[in-house]
Amino acid sequence: MSRAAASIDGESLITGDLVRRSRAPEEIGSQDSVELREALAQLLVVLELARSGFLDEGRTSEIVARLAGELHMLRRNSIAAIWQTLIAAAQAHPVMEFLKQDPLTNWSFTKPRGYSGDAGLLDIYYKHPSMDHLLTGCTDLGREIYDYTSDVPACAAGRERCEILARFVDETAERTEGPAEILAVAAGHLREAGICHGLSAGRIRRWVALDQDPISIGTMTRDLGGTVVSPMNGSVLGLLRRSYKLGTFDLVYASGLYDYLQEKTAVKLLQRLVDMLRPGGMVLFANFSDEITSDGYMETFMDWPLILRSANDMWRIIDASVDRNVYETEVWYGENRNIVYGTLRKK
Ligand SMILES: C[S@@+](CC[C@H](N)C(=O)[O-])C[C@H]1O[C@@H](n2cnc3c(N)ncnc32)[C@H](O)[C@@H]1O
Repeated sequence: MSRAAASIDGESLITGDLVRRSRAPEEIGSQDSVELREALAQLLVVLELARSGFLDEGRTSEIVARLAGELHMLRRNSIAAIWQTLIAAAQAHPVMEFLKQDPLTNWSFTKPRGYSGDAGLLDIYYKHPSMDHLLTGCTDLGREIYDYTSDVPACAAGRERCEILARFVDETAERTEGPAEILAVAAGHLREAGICHGLSAGRIRRWVALDQDPISIGTMTRDLGGTVVSPMNGSVLGLLRRSYKLGTFDLVYASGLYDYLQEKTAVKLLQRLVDMLRPGGMVLFANFSDEITSDGYMETFMDWPLILRSANDMWRIIDASVDRNVYETEVWYGENRNIVYGTLRKK
């Protein structure tokens, strides 16, 4: 069955299905049916091996590492339509009963806020104290699986991203004459604010934190009330339609958002973000890179598909968005290359 490519409109809450449909997978042709049968058989072996490993009380980290490694290879070696069938088969397999004891896998799969990659999920792998209760309340096996899943390079890169954001905010506050003005798009819980020195030192005039999720807005209001942080319920679509009068900023950044945006929307958004810069101001946008190896596990047992990008993909977005003579542009990777960053400074 073929499915028409759906476009992510920039306002809808992100669902795994929407991200998947945006990739418009090819149909499975008759010539692929042998490949499909072989891939399903291979998957079944991998899943059964993991299940018997759990039943035999083998070393949890080794079981999950092998499972994730095999899923990565299956994803890499399958055409999109076959991979989608494998995802459904994996999710229906009894090994899920073991894996969902991990609070991180379970939160991602069950989507308590109705969409993938919400700020609560990030709090779990940020190891934020607000999520400690999930770990004290889970089984020993769940804790051991969590120790593995929360320490994969992609999660380490996510934690580093939070530190990088805080550093960019602090550097902006240092270089700006007078207190800085910052805009975070898709701010989530704005956890970087908690480790940013410029905020407590009074070097920031306003920090607008825009997000479409009212629970995230409520969390920021509770945790950052009384500071210059100004949580704002708004969407990418609202930004693109110029529905908000936000003024201009010294730093505009989007983290944990581009991973869901198709290239067309990614370009339009970047054009809008640079539009809000003062001279000398900077835009930063981040994307999980196509070098991550937990992609297969994320798409199956966490039901968390992302649009992964290379440095070249980031350059293509930048080149389609701005005249490079007007901006100093850079594309660079975080320490373990699991997240790629684009930065543009207005000359
Ligand atoms: C993965 S979290 C990132 C949170 C935070 N920026 C970080 O890096 O920790 C993604 C956030 O994007 C928000 N989001 C998703 N689509 C959006 C849209 N179209 N407009 C505004 N916010 C959006 C979600 O509500 C969620 O809080």
